[in-house]
Amino acid sequence: MAEQVAVVVTESTASDVCFVHVLDETRQRLVLMGATPPFTSLSGTVELELGEGVAGWVALNAEPAIVPDKWKDDRYVYIPALRGEDYESLISVPLLGRGQRVVGVINVHSQKPRRYGEHDVVLLTQVGNLMARTVENARLYERLAEREQTLEQFAARTVDAQEMERRHLAGEIHDGISQRLISLWYHLQAAEAFAVDPVVVTHELGAAKDLTSAALDEARRAIAGLRPSVLDDLGLGPSLESLAHTVAGPEVEVEIAPCRLPPHVEVALYRIAQEALQNVMKHAEAERVTMRLWTLNGTVHLVVEDDGRGFRPTEVRRNRNGSPSYGLVGMRERAELVGARLQITSKPGTGTRVQVELPAGLNQID
Ligand SMILES: Nc1ncnc2c1ncn2[C@@H]1O[C@H](COP(=O)(O)OP(=O)(O)OP(=O)(O)O)[C@@H](O)[C@H]1O
Ligand SMILES: [Mg+2]
Repeated sequence: MAEQVAVVVTESTASDVCFVHVLDETRQRLVLMGATPPFTSLSGTVELELGEGVAGWVALNAEPAIVPDKWKDDRYVYIPALRGEDYESLISVPLLGRGQRVVGVINVHSQKPRRYGEHDVVLLTQVGNLMARTVENARLYERLAEREQTLEQFAARTVDAQEMERRHLAGEIHDGISQRLISLWYHLQAAEAFAVDPVVVTHELGAAKDLTSAALDEARRAIAGLRPSVLDDLGLGPSLESLAHTVAGPEVEVEIAPCRLPPHVEVALYRIAQEALQNVMKHAEAERVTMRLWTLNGTVHLVVEDDGRGFRPTEVRRNRNGSPSYGLVGMRERAELVGARLQITSKPGTGTRVQVELPAGLNQID
């Protein structure tokens, strides 16, 4: 852009060459960012200190300088690469951004001796202001992009940490609760065998035994739900397929295109699919459910769709038992954490479609 501005400015002021210098704020130096031919290739290679040369003076004082004969001007500094010997006169105007802050400087040179006038100052100031805004916006954009990247990394770490916590918990349940329940079962069995009042004790102990094995089943289910070790073993596609095989009731159709995604994204998509399928089994009374995963133009799409009874997503606050429901909320949170968009389309009588879109750029593997 600096180069294009240089060309337009040279033409509109009937000059011979133009240099656009942008201020590097951290290093407090002016860097040549654009120039007209034959200097275009010098972009990024010529630097001036604040206060050095006419451009440096203009940047320091935030005011224009008209120099009819540069050889007679103290501020002028000869830079061989810019071939000062070929040009006689110049005008230099600051690029002023928000709050009149100097963002850079435009220098326009003429081969023939010439006194640039007030209208040149006005024109260059206007162009300079526009350019300054663009430079500031570009910097802002850069900073925002950096911040977004930091946020994404933060989200990735959070999801990883959550998953580690879940694995830890799964280990705890497996080694702790399950082991205890098993020994409890053996103790009860022994008590049953040596009971004094056989009728009552047998009945009570039988019930306790049933309870224990139900609790054990529950713990097993919790472990399976907490730790999708299948993701580590098989990867996302096959894991989703194996998830589909666990669906009881409706007929399941699966179309999974192979794609490689960062681990935290895989976990998020797997969990979303899992909750969506569980909801189909629990609520939909569907005949058919489809799960599809594909990539288009870099965007990853996951869809779980059923032909069941449907519901009004806006009216969901609590589940059927009256307790707050977390499934849909959790799905949304998981999607947002990895930068994806989750959409639930449903109406009573029309089935339900859960759709996740993960934009390109958020799904690359480092
Ligand atoms: N595929 C579906 N078909 C029909 N109704 C659904 C479907 N998915 C969700 N729902 C409705 O939306 C409600 C909220 O779902 P959500 O997953 O948040 O909670 P839940 O499944 O009831 O409980 P949980 O917190 O265990 O997930 C459900 O109670 C159900 O009424
Ligand atoms: Mg649910």
